[in-house]
Amino acid sequence: MTRLVYAVILASGKGERMNCGFPKQFIEIAGKTIVGRSIEAFEKNSGIDEIIVVSEPACIEKITEIVKNSGFKKVTKIVPGGVIRAESSSIGVGGIAEDDAKVLIHDAARPFVSQRIIDDCIAALDSFDAVHTAIKATDTIIEAENGKMTATTDRSRMMQVQTPQGFRAGVIKKAHALAKEEGFAGATDDCGIVFKYGLADISIVEGERTNIKITYPEDIAVAEIIAGKG
Ligand code: C5P
Repeated sequence: MTRLVYAVILASGKGERMNCGFPKQFIEIAGKTIVGRSIEAFEKNSGIDEIIVVSEPACIEKITEIVKNSGFKKVTKIVPGGVIRAESSSIGVGGIAEDDAKVLIHDAARPFVSQRIIDDCIAALDSFDAVHTAIKATDTIIEAENGKMTATTDRSRMMQVQTPQGFRAGVIKKAHALAKEEGFAGATDDCGIVFKYGLADISIVEGERTNIKITYPEDIAVAEIIAGKG
């Protein structure tokens, strides 16, 4: 039996930090929407069988149109997301029936994910049940509370996480079920949830500095430069 490899693209954020009046995933970078670029990266990867897009409920029609106009063939579902990212992610993964399928969960806001990162994540799931994409931290990271520094960290051990984050579907579904019981408290990324409940060893795939999450208005200029490099 062949096991399918799924991509879940999270596009249900409101993008409020972008402050552009509409969800940031519809901003065009060098002529293509952010969400369209993210879907395209997985569409053209030969290791990916099916793509599930989790959309802001009011934008399902818009994403359907992008999928149609771009001729994407692997998108099998476009589903409405939740209030927080972890909820959207659990809705996306919830539609996968086979527990041993591989699933890569990706932020639509990271349109420059490379084919190498996607390939490495899929391959890592042959040996691990969970895989993170991360890059070495260049800034020193501190802990702070109420405007005061409370702890320092050893920069040589710090990494900044990106997406995709990959899993055997059964593992991430179990993690989401446990997190849901706690109202997804503190869940900012999917590997973090799996780690919290100790459900799997998590392998790390080297990310890339160009795999940026477009969040603030100034990220658009950087994105245009990355897109220009093609
Ligand atoms: O908010 P954050 O920057 O962590 O969002 C990362 C990704 O998760 C974005 O692509 C965004 O569209 C998605 N997201 C989502 N559902 C939410 C919040 C964020 O799919 N409720």
